[in-house]
Amino acid sequence: MNFAINLTVNGMRRAVELEDPRVTLLDLLRERLDLTGTKKGCDRGQCGACTVLIDGRRISSCMALAISHDGADILTIEGVAHGDLLHPVQAAFIAHDGLQCGFCTPGQIMSAIGLIQEGQAGDDLERIREGMSGNLCRCGAYAGITEAVLDAQKSLAQADGRRSA
Ligand code: FES
Ligand code: FES
Repeated sequence: MNFAINLTVNGMRRAVELEDPRVTLLDLLRERLDLTGTKKGCDRGQCGACTVLIDGRRISSCMALAISHDGADILTIEGVAHGDLLHPVQAAFIAHDGLQCGFCTPGQIMSAIGLIQEGQAGDDLERIREGMSGNLCRCGAYAGITEAVLDAQKSLAQADGRRSA
């Protein structure tokens, strides 16, 4: 028996038939929708490499059953830039050397976007470190990552201020 679900992924409606209700959202994204930017690190909810936003909330997609998110709006790393224009968080990661090998970076960026949207990032490096603590980096690029999130948070707040002025 197949199970039909509908998702909006990076703004596009996707209808998917699942042969197995145990398929994780991570495997669905990578293996069925060819969205391989979302990485599989531990596959057990411990590293954050698979972080995506579901209805605006950060989630480890390796721990999410795809079938449980029928109708959800999903944002992955492939959907954050606008054409050649990088998302401010992406640009800040480059500016602050917030990566080395890059394996954890999609998850770090999605988590940072979620953290900033939650309004929890503040302007305090310690709070940012705590808010990003679910995203591990084997290369230890934490100093650059934290600076990048702080910088992106500031530039997004300024852009919001300009829009509402
Ligand atoms: S791959 Fe999902 S938390 Fe590590
Ligand atoms: S940049 Fe290599 S794991 Fe984070």
